[in-house]
Amino acid sequence: MNRSRPLAWRASVLLGGLAFGLAGRPASGDFPLLITQVPRSEMAAPADAEPRGLVCADPFEHARIVVRSPAGDLRVLSTGFASACDPDVSFDGQRALFAGRRDGEARWRIWEIDLDAQGLRPVSPENLDARMPIHVSTLFTLDSPEPWFTFVFVSRAATVNEAGHAAGSSLYNLKLDGTELRRLTFSPNHNLDPFQMWDGRVIYAAETYSQEPGGGPARMGIHALHIEGADMELYGGVAGRRVQRMPCATEGGLVVFVESDDPGWLGTGQLACLVASRPAASYRRLSEPGQSVFLHPTPLRANTVFVARRPAAGEGTFAIVTFDADTGRCEPVFDDPEFHDVQAKPVRARARPDGHSTVVNPKFDTGVFYGLNAYTADPLRPVHLKPGEIKRVRFIEGLPGAAAPAGVSGTNWPFVARRLVGEAPVEADGSFNVEVPADTPLLLQTLDERGLALGTSGWVWVKQKETRGCIGCHEDPELVPENEYVLALRRPSNRLVLPPAQRRTVTFRDDIAPMLQRHCAAAGCHGEGDTPAGLPLAAPSSSEAELAATYARLMTPWSGEAGAGRPRPGRYVDAGRARTSWLVWQVTGTRTDRPWDASEPAPGAPSRPVKLMPPPGKGPPLDPQQLRTLAQWIDLGAQYDCPRESPAPAPANRASTP
Ligand code: HEC
Repeated sequence: MNRSRPLAWRASVLLGGLAFGLAGRPASGDFPLLITQVPRSEMAAPADAEPRGLVCADPFEHARIVVRSPAGDLRVLSTGFASACDPDVSFDGQRALFAGRRDGEARWRIWEIDLDAQGLRPVSPENLDARMPIHVSTLFTLDSPEPWFTFVFVSRAATVNEAGHAAGSSLYNLKLDGTELRRLTFSPNHNLDPFQMWDGRVIYAAETYSQEPGGGPARMGIHALHIEGADMELYGGVAGRRVQRMPCATEGGLVVFVESDDPGWLGTGQLACLVASRPAASYRRLSEPGQSVFLHPTPLRANTVFVARRPAAGEGTFAIVTFDADTGRCEPVFDDPEFHDVQAKPVRARARPDGHSTVVNPKFDTGVFYGLNAYTADPLRPVHLKPGEIKRVRFIEGLPGAAAPAGVSGTNWPFVARRLVGEAPVEADGSFNVEVPADTPLLLQTLDERGLALGTSGWVWVKQKETRGCIGCHEDPELVPENEYVLALRRPSNRLVLPPAQRRTVTFRDDIAPMLQRHCAAAGCHGEGDTPAGLPLAAPSSSEAELAATYARLMTPWSGEAGAGRPRPGRYVDAGRARTSWLVWQVTGTRTDRPWDASEPAPGAPSRPVKLMPPPGKGPPLDPQQLRTLAQWIDLGAQYDCPRESPAPAPANRASTP
């Protein structure tokens, strides 16, 4: 294997030399390149690759980092490492950060090294799995004597994501001296591929699952935030293919990235771009499937990037080429046939993006969300909502995904459990102003007068002391809202700041089963397995198996006509959306769905008239508090059970003091 080859300078091969020879001036410029090399035998899809959501397996086992001189000679930079990858050159062009493992057992850790291979030192903590470091510009506060230098990187957590895949990953920020670890992203899914744009914001790829049932497939999309985690937003919208990764910004004002319809195990795909000054309206494809697949664009000059390219079919390896996004022209730079050559980074001084003045203060535990007008949304909603119909906003906390405890069936266990942070009023003009726990993954729901969610946001968060404004759900990203002094800003924030241990959840086992038992499962009604809806809950205390059977019946999608002598199965509960749940219709005696649900009806909901339950004379109806609990249960995802305690905290939720 190639790893035993002498690690000294080695003559460059094939296209690298060729490009020099022909053009007189190398296509890649007159500076060295850092390149990650993966032995060709190592970069095969593992036979037992399990589905991992939208993120590929990690191909960098046994990879190494080389410096390729302008003359085409190679020198290994990562001597002494079993695996090394993700190089990033400092702004002065003198040093590099990279991810490395000393041996196969060690965790990935971030290291710094001078480009003459001196001065190797670890910079990320030993107990953190750390990858994809990028140097970022300075961070400062109004009262800090001096700005400080940090880098951003990605760490995986030992959790499962929303879809139950291992694992999630988050962006972190750390001082170059290894202190003041700050966690930047808090969605429970994958967040990776950070790149700092000229305006100082970091763009990255984030995995998202629609919170509205039927709201479309899972995506990996480009998001943006500041280098201390504030102001996270979707960057560029949802145009283009479903899996978008590895964004980089060019000097010429484009954001070039790799995208694909299906998550290939390596994350390969075609090139596409956005115009950085109009990201929401400028998506454009740069390459079409068929010939080649790409990885890791990196800016070279103007709108030309270095990128790793490989033939779409056959046995070829990845080679470094330049790609001009204006003309679509590719020029070969470097190919070592024994390796996949990826992650090319020019070794040269480059301009530092704008620094960032931060309001985030790690001494605080909370931040503020304010909304200008909750009625602002896609066209359907405002048309069908009368002023005053949105009564409250509800904030829901997501608990990092934990595996089901022994003895609990996986289907009855939420991958990312939900807890109530609280509800706060929406003013007559649609504005709201709410103080919530910082550094916590939150979902936001707007509520009608019954307490049923009218809509659910994606995962959002505030950093400590951040004040995060938004419009509604959501505005046209290209328009600036009217300047208004909204009602919610004339009062102090509503404080939804219960400590974690006091945050309530609503589960089938604890809250809903007893309610069904009391009101629905009387003899002659739904008390036996063979009665309509079949809720075998007649016994005063039900066994775990009966509870689970009842839960399964409520959750199972409608599947046709009643079988002989068997109850009709039905989608009684549309997890995450109380307003389209048959169970809610029956206990309120009315259809509570909304016009904007018509485009995506609850799959197979039975089409029979709604009858109030319990029927008049057969027992007391649910009181308003019980109805609210039922609505909360379904809007929180209809959890069967929920972890009793918060799972172990993530490595760092707040900055440590040096
Ligand atoms: C109830 C309507 C609604 C409100 C109010 C709302 N959003 Fe959203 N938000 C959405 C929807 C829908 C999505 C897309 C989620 C999806 O992909 O299904 C979303 C996604 C996002 C995303 C991207 C995250 C992702 O999942 O891709 C950000 C960032 C965001 N919202 C920020 C905010 C902020 C900040 C506020 C104000 C505090 C806010 N939103 C209020 C509905 C809303």
